[in-house]
Amino acid sequence: MKKILFATSEAVPFIKTGGLADVAGSLPKYFDKEKYDVRVMLPKYLCMKEQWKEKLTYNSHFYMDLGWRTQYVGVLETEYNGVTFYFIDNEYYFNGFAPYGDMYADVEKFAFFSKAVLSALPVIDFRPDIIHCHDWQTGLIPVFLDNFRYSNEYYRGIKTVMTIHNLKFQGTWDPKRIRDITGLPQYYFAPDKLEAYKDANYLKGGVVYADKITTVSNSYAEEIKTPFYGEKLDGLMNARSNCLSGIVNGIDYEVFDPQTDKCIVRNYNVNNFRKEKIKNKTALQNELGLDPDPKTMMIGVVSRLTDQKGFDLVAYVMDELCQDAIQIVVLGTGEEQYENMFRHFAWKYQGKVSANIFYSEELSHKIYASCDAFLMPSLFEPCGLSQLMSLRYGTVPIVRETGGLKDTVEAYNEYEKTGTGFSFTNYNAHEMMATVRYAERIYYDKKRDWNKIVERAMKKDFSWKNSAKQYEALYDEL
Ligand code: ADP
Ligand code: GLC
Repeated sequence: MKKILFATSEAVPFIKTGGLADVAGSLPKYFDKEKYDVRVMLPKYLCMKEQWKEKLTYNSHFYMDLGWRTQYVGVLETEYNGVTFYFIDNEYYFNGFAPYGDMYADVEKFAFFSKAVLSALPVIDFRPDIIHCHDWQTGLIPVFLDNFRYSNEYYRGIKTVMTIHNLKFQGTWDPKRIRDITGLPQYYFAPDKLEAYKDANYLKGGVVYADKITTVSNSYAEEIKTPFYGEKLDGLMNARSNCLSGIVNGIDYEVFDPQTDKCIVRNYNVNNFRKEKIKNKTALQNELGLDPDPKTMMIGVVSRLTDQKGFDLVAYVMDELCQDAIQIVVLGTGEEQYENMFRHFAWKYQGKVSANIFYSEELSHKIYASCDAFLMPSLFEPCGLSQLMSLRYGTVPIVRETGGLKDTVEAYNEYEKTGTGFSFTNYNAHEMMATVRYAERIYYDKKRDWNKIVERAMKKDFSWKNSAKQYEALYDEL
């Protein structure tokens, strides 16, 4: 039996800000339980819902040195869907309204978390063969592990995997302060180790010291070796390319299932979507105050509203697009400029555009189920889960061909009658608009062909089954 510990800053259903939580929370239950004991460790945030905090039970506590400080580390645990989740408790670090605040506080918070993960292992009596780290928040784990190994036999032989969900976020601060926080020797603060461009860089540390590096799609694994996508670490990615691979994300097919989903008005499947799916659209039009016309093509957006997601393109052609016979439903929060942009267009085109600037699991399911198409014109996209959710619900994705979007959405080919969505190549607003309009033409003029696209989309399998196998193979190599 191989023992694996996921170290992550978020995991569903306990705490979520983005796709990382979906992955870290749902992937563990899809490993072969006979061969892999996969557990998860994350912070216990004050902002977690009461419903989840109530379920946690006390495991142990101890005190840990962090630089010159001595800090309390509590360990709580719970089981969810057959997977053990451990929570690192420290009210000083994990208070606040959200998991992340400003970088100044976050670099200390996650230095604490990373060291606490390693320090807790002997205390909870779970010695993993592999620690699987996710994103910059856990980048110091392979570094601390390297440091621990010299003095403590317990840690010798533990391997690490570092998964990059988003290279843009690296966790950087000036080396002097990071040295002070972490107490790591000067040795680590060098450009071939923790340092990049004169800053201490957590993600870089993880990438340098991990035994294997993965990212969440094949295309992104290639892209990050180039300057455009490399976020100034493309050199490092090239240097480590022997250990770097892409494993595409899946989604939880039990949570995202149009046949059983309790959030939606009418359940449906690949056989009856032609009649049933549309009832969800009508219900959503009523709920959001859109013109109640089941025939109008409805395009959905569920997203963090950041520049990564391509909303500059949308802003540029929104007025033109709104002249078409379409409705646009947006659910998201993020940068103010995009929140206000969508609020503005919802005001300007009442009945056609609905801007829902908040977070809601339930409304997200309704949008995935109700819309005809789903727009995701990302500037870059390591994998993307929203397009996978859309495919699952027979909502046709319109995407830019980048990262995981390129790997999971197959462009419609009207001559060969293949494809599960629509896509465009260049980061260009009019190219995006032309693609949306092409989709409109198929939707309105060739309904049979459109429904075939929906059918192919729903038949695609992006459950975790295949990807979990690939992670298992990777673990076996170590
Ligand atoms: P990223 O991780 O870059 O934000 P992904 O597509 O991988 O992008 O994952 C985003 C996840 O967050 C999806 O599960 C999506 O449904 C969800 N999501 C994003 N914004 C919201 C929101 N406002 N309300 C509910 N769910 C949201
Ligand atoms: C990141 C990426 C997204 C990916 C998610 C889960 O947030 O932006 O593309 O799907 O992580 O891996």
